[in-house]
Amino acid sequence: MKKVKKAVIPAAGLGTRFLPITKAIPKPMLSVLDKPTIQYIAEELISVGIEDILIVVSPGSDVIKNHFGPAEDLEKRLLEDGKQKLYEIERQTQRFNVSFAVQQTANGLAGAMLCAEEFIDGEPFALLLGDELIFADKDQTPCMKRLVDIFESTGKSVIATMEVFGDDVSKYGNIGIREEVDGVMEVSSIIEKPSLAEALSNNAIIGRYVFDGKIIDMLKTLTPRNNEIYLTDAMEVLANNKELLASTFEGTRYDVGDKFGYIKANVEYALRSEEIGADTLEYIKELAKRI
Ligand code: UTP
Repeated sequence: MKKVKKAVIPAAGLGTRFLPITKAIPKPMLSVLDKPTIQYIAEELISVGIEDILIVVSPGSDVIKNHFGPAEDLEKRLLEDGKQKLYEIERQTQRFNVSFAVQQTANGLAGAMLCAEEFIDGEPFALLLGDELIFADKDQTPCMKRLVDIFESTGKSVIATMEVFGDDVSKYGNIGIREEVDGVMEVSSIIEKPSLAEALSNNAIIGRYVFDGKIIDMLKTLTPRNNEIYLTDAMEVLANNKELLASTFEGTRYDVGDKFGYIKANVEYALRSEEIGADTLEYIKELAKRI
């Protein structure tokens, strides 16, 4: 059975919901505590044994490359100053096997995936949106591990979903389910941001996927709508062919590309932090009394 060895992280969007910071800083570089979102995502990949990572960036955006690249002067200075722990933290940013592709125009997620064609080379790959974090506790199965396990045992593309209710249903792609066995759903259809009445189920698509490499050829055959090709259109074809599975994930998802999601991620990661968790908790309790 095919193994998942590669991952693509699209990071070339305009990030308009987060202007003005995203004018010069790509959204996946927004920091949750002291680390950019995209580094958490690279760590998530390493933890499931996927080491070959391609990041799709916008033209002229060197910030992400610089983050994962060498910093000789900084390292020298940290060592000279005896700041061994900080030196190690800095070195951690260089342990990933990352390469880059440029998306000339931000023409959507499918456009970013097409920029990864050469890297993917017909092989299965994980796709992780650069502005979503998924935290799993020690006793939970990490989302990517679950997806990789399902792909490697069935050979079918698989997407992560979460349960949504009420108005939230209309914020996400929504799936219809043909059947479900042991928590693995076979997707029958996909609808983008449906009204509550149109929704096919309570399962919303989130930013973690594992695809068979042939999805790239499928994207190329699609007719653009509003000058854009849509990943969901390719997923619909897979669903019609009974080649698309879905699974909910264990853990907590943070949409760091949304202002409220960003605040929630920072507060919750701060609460989990050994360094400032206790102080943060005390502060939140004291703040709650004042407001
Ligand atoms: P979003 O759907 O959040 O779009 O992208 P966006 O353009 O970044 O942000 P808003 O909606 O204008 O605020 C989800 C992920 O896909 C990447 C983004 O960088 C983000 O990680 N993306 C999006 C691309 O790489 N290229 C694109 O053309 C669009």
